[in-house]
Order: sequence, then C-alpha cells, then structure tokens
Amino acid sequence: VNTVRAATSAGALALVVDDDIEASEALARSLVDLDVRARKVTTAAEALALVDEERFDVVITDVRMPGMDGLQLCARLAQVRPELPVVVLTGLGNLATAVAALRARAYDFLTKPLDLELLAAAVDRAVQHKRLSEEVYRLRAEVDATANLSGLVGGSSTMRRVHETIAHVAPSDATVLVCGETGTGKELVARQIHDLSPRRCGPFVSVNCAAIPSPLLESEFFGHARGAFTDAKTARVGLFVEAHRGTLFLDEIGEMPLEMQVKLLRVLQGRTVRPVGSSTDVAFDTRIVAATNRDLEEEVSHKRFREDLFYRINVVRIDLPPLRERGSDVLVLAQRFLAAGAARAGQPALGLSTDAAEKLLAYHWPGNVRELENCMERAMAFAKNRPIGAGDLPPNIVAYRPDRFTVEANDAAEIVTLGQLERRYVMRVLALLGNNKARAAARLGIDRRTLYRKLEHWEQLRSRPDRQPIEGEAVHGRC
Ligand SMILES: Nc1ncnc2c1ncn2[C@@H]1O[C@H](COP(=O)(O)OP(=O)(O)OP(=O)(O)O)[C@@H](O)[C@H]1O
Ligand SMILES: [Mg+2]
Repeated sequence: VNTVRAATSAGALALVVDDDIEASEALARSLVDLDVRARKVTTAAEALALVDEERFDVVITDVRMPGMDGLQLCARLAQVRPELPVVVLTGLGNLATAVAALRARAYDFLTKPLDLELLAAAVDRAVQHKRLSEEVYRLRAEVDATANLSGLVGGSSTMRRVHETIAHVAPSDATVLVCGETGTGKELVARQIHDLSPRRCGPFVSVNCAAIPSPLLESEFFGHARGAFTDAKTARVGLFVEAHRGTLFLDEIGEMPLEMQVKLLRVLQGRTVRPVGSSTDVAFDTRIVAATNRDLEEEVSHKRFREDLFYRINVVRIDLPPLRERGSDVLVLAQRFLAAGAARAGQPALGLSTDAAEKLLAYHWPGNVRELENCMERAMAFAKNRPIGAGDLPPNIVAYRPDRFTVEANDAAEIVTLGQLERRYVMRVLALLGNNKARAAARLGIDRRTLYRKLEHWEQLRSRPDRQPIEGEAVHGRC
C-alpha cells in the first residue's frame, strides 16, 4: 500500500479514540504503516482535552464508549474545531450509525473490521480536506483584511505590508507587538487581528497599562480572591481570564513597572494566573497583542524594560508607519473621515479642494491619523456645504513649512534638490548651534566666508520681487 499511496497524509498526526485498547493499538499500527503518526486516548473527554494541546490532522473515533460516545464527540468537535475532520468507525452493515455519524458532522465513516486501503484513502481525503479548509480560511482572512472598508484604511506600500502581516498572523495564536507613534492606529490593528482570528466570537479586552495605578496592577491582571484585601468584597477574575478564548490587548506595555513585568512574563510562559490571595492557579487561553509608542529595544538597553519579556512579546512585530510616511493615504483617509462625518449627519460628503489637499500632504502629522481625524471634523464644521478649502484647516497646518532635515525619504514625492537639501541642512545646523556662524561653519567643515556667501545668496533670492521659490520652500517637499 505504501508504494502506491500519494503522500498526502504522510507525516500527518491522527488522534485515535477507542476504549478498546487492543483495537486502538491495531489501528495505530496500521496508521504507522501508512506513515501517519498516531496518539491514542480511551475517552471522548481526553480527546477534547488533547485537541486543545496538539494540532491533529484527523480524529478517528469508535462510537460506543463509556461516557460521551463517538457521535457526541463528533458533534462537539464540529463546534469547537470545525476544521478538524472526524472519521467514525461503525460496525459492519450498521447503516443507521453511519447516517447518524454524518448528521453529527463526521467527515467520513469506516466499517469494522478495517480495510487498510479504505483506511488509507479516508485518512488521505481527511488530511487533504483539513489542509484545504485551512488554506481557504487563510485566504478569506487575507481578502477580508484588504477589503474590509470599516477597518484599517491605506493602500500605500508601507501600509500594504501591515495589511499582509495582519492577514498572515491573525489566524494563529502568535503574540503580536504593535509599535508606532501616537495615533497611528495601534488599537485598530489589534482589533483587526482579533476580528480576523478564529477567536473573533470571543472577547476583545483592551487595557491601557499606563492607566492602572501600580498597587492595583496585579489584581486587575490576575484577579483576586474574596477578602484578599480590604476592598475585595467579592472575588474578581483578572483580565487574562476575562479574555479567555479571546484576545487581550496590552496597550502601552512600555509603561509597565519592572516588578510587574517579571510577573507578567511568568504568566505568559505558564499560561496560568494565580489571583491575589488565592492558592490555586487558573488556566487561560488568551491571545496577547501588545502595543507601545516607545522604542522598546532602547528601553531594554537602558534596563527600563526587561529583555526576557521583550523577547516573549516580540514574536511577530508590526511597525505602523507614521502618517507622514504613507504618501497619498492621507487623502484617502481624509476623504474617509469626510464620508463618515457626512453619514453621521445624514448629508452628502463634502469634497476636498486641491489647495487643502496640498496642505494635508505637506504637513508632518505628529498626532498621525487621530490628528487628521480631528482636523477633518473641524474642517467640516467650518466648510458647511462647500468643498473643504485650505482656509478650513487649522492654522498650524496651513502655515506649516517643512524644514526637517532627514534623508529618509520613502516616497518619490518627498525628493528635493541638492540645493534645497543644502539650505535646509545649513539652517538646521545654525539653529542647533544658537545661530553661531563661526561654529556652524566649523561643524559643516567649510570656510566661514563660504557660509556667509551662501546665506547672502539665499537672502537675495528671498528679497527679489520676481523671485523663484527659494530652495527649501517647496510645499510638499520634505526630505
Ligand atoms: N488606517 C486607519 N484607517 C482608519 N482609521 C484609522 C486608521 N488608523 C487610525 N485610525 C483612527 O485613528 C484614531 C486613532 O487610532 P488608534 O486609537 O488605534 O491609535 P493608537 O496608535 O492606538 O494611538 P495611541 O498611541 O495614542 O493610543 C482612531 O479613531 C482610529 O479609528
Ligand atoms: Mg491606543
């Protein structure tokens, strides 16, 4: 049989459920002959516990067993592990049981005594089925992630990478660390990971680690027993258990005090918590997504964040780019906020004028998407029924002149000329050195007279009535 078999199920892992030890051993031997690894249990309860721990490709169960029988097991597995195919073993000629098995959403049934070739074919089909349904699931998650309009907006290359990572990790239980400046959408990413995961029907619990006073952290996270301390009139389950079978979002994890970090690490490793004042551990099955706007590696190097905890949470990392690095996403988002505002007011959406769009593209958005959202709400109030003009935007955005010096341009629209770059850099160095021209020239490695000449040249350009735009004055340009 081995030689003609397609390798579909080779290396697969099967769970054999049968209270008859001899029968299950014989079956396990047959499976091994088929290159399928097998684990054996004698009750449905054990089977249900084991599928939580290991990734089986197929379950093969007998029907008649003490306690929960094979058909009940089948129905239960269809609920909790819909992607896991179950093959039910029935007595020869027992059609009623076979029909009942299929009704209980068994994937297939086999009659005893087992025929090795039929077994091989059934296991192959089941394993193939499982792989396909996982693949379909993954693809659907990917499509949902990119097409989900209410979710994370953005088609720039930097955001496309974010979408791809989300779609890729959401179906797993991997711990995710979301990093990004304030207002970049870290919480939205965490929610999306939850919504696209098999845990979507479970709870999404969000906690801001910075907002909980230190003395309360332990009982908030791990729970407490009744009477554990003066105010503990009733027992309380902590956040880890509250998010059981769902996702716990640990926002601003970089703010967690060091002594709490030690406890957190222990809990994440053991997947159990011990409530304050209790003597027993409580197990939980909670996916962790953490977020921070700090540079955690830097925090680690300054011993403000524990290295071991950092590695524990930095399994999959999503770096959310600041809004200023998302190119025309700014305009897509602006329009999305205009449309949402209009829908709330029951009115048609306002347009965006070209000069407003230019200002939005040029601005550096220190508050990122949240700042843009507020900016568009304000603009809607000002513009009433007209398209949004530059005058409807906050003055700091209208007046903004990009003068940052960085060479990290990610976007072709951000490229400036060498002349512009030179002027910006010189001005920046002068500003940093308290406008001391002698020191600036020394630091720039040029003659003092050369510096004066350059400054004079730029000054003349500025004061000429028919002047061309001065280097560095470009509206969109940020380099
Ligand atoms: N890509 C996006 N598409 C649509 N809305 C977005 C996007 N990113 C952020 N938002 C919106 O911007 C606001 C800020 O997002 P969020 O609260 O997730 O940011 P954050 O990174 O958690 O900020 P903070 O660090 O300040 O907590 C929210 O209203 C969110 O819905
Ligand atoms: Mg947040």
